[in-house]
Amino acid sequence: MTKIRKAVFPVAGLGSRFLPATKAQPKEMLPIVDKPLIQYAVEEAVAAGINEMIFITGRNKRAIEDHFDKAYELESELEAARKDELLELVRNVIPKHISCMYIRQSEPLGLGHAVLCARPIVGDEPFAVLLADDFMDTEAGQRPVLAQMTEVYDYEQCSVLAVQDVPRENTKQYGIVSAVEYRPQLELVNGIVEKPHPDLAPSTLAVVGRYILSGAIFEHLEKLGKGAGGEIQLTDGIASLMGKERVLAYRYEGQRYDCGSKLGYLQAMTAVGLKHPETADGFRAYLDALCKR
Ligand code: G1P
Repeated sequence: MTKIRKAVFPVAGLGSRFLPATKAQPKEMLPIVDKPLIQYAVEEAVAAGINEMIFITGRNKRAIEDHFDKAYELESELEAARKDELLELVRNVIPKHISCMYIRQSEPLGLGHAVLCARPIVGDEPFAVLLADDFMDTEAGQRPVLAQMTEVYDYEQCSVLAVQDVPRENTKQYGIVSAVEYRPQLELVNGIVEKPHPDLAPSTLAVVGRYILSGAIFEHLEKLGKGAGGEIQLTDGIASLMGKERVLAYRYEGQRYDCGSKLGYLQAMTAVGLKHPETADGFRAYLDALCKR
């Protein structure tokens, strides 16, 4: 049985929906309370048993490499000042057994192209893809979303896409699948299309930023031309793969926040702020007072 050992994080996007905040820093470094989005995504991959993290980066993304690297000056300053708790926090951004690899995507040719850039490292084994601006929150007792998906993979041994229902007017923001029932929470995909107009969408079942893909996806991505928005689309690669292999859509348990949008980002911040041990009580009291005004 094959296990998922590698995760790909496409982080080369421009973050234009979040300008000017993303003029000089990557959108994946925007924090939810005190941790950047990319760290939440990496932690989700670690929780799914993945040890090799592959970042597809671009210009202006140095901060991501620095975040997962040793911070000599900061660590020695904290050590000298005996700020042990902060020192631990900085040192443990990523567990010691995890390796991080970086590949530059020199041209913004689309998500499919970004994933294809990982081929030299991934080879032909199955792997995960995580889009860090889709922030996946789970409640105590729920498994993190990617771990739910690797569990499905372990059993089914085929590609798995995380999906959720969206309002029909929003289909043009997502890859949309058509599928038939398979098992509880799982559907067998028989069509997938990138950002269809609401009148043309085959369903309202949208792919969100978590994928487990068979290594065969690369052959399909390689043959693709430009799709929706003039970009090489991962969705089109999956549509082609589907002709050869089984692809499942998984209705995950948890709450997704679209942190590529301002409103989604504020909602994520609120959800985490209400749970974080340092802010929960004060923030709840503040929101209560605000609602009573
Ligand atoms: C990308 C994918 C799309 C998917 C979405 C999930 O779109 O192309 O198929 O539904 O992520 O967030 P983007 O949000 O980069 O436009």
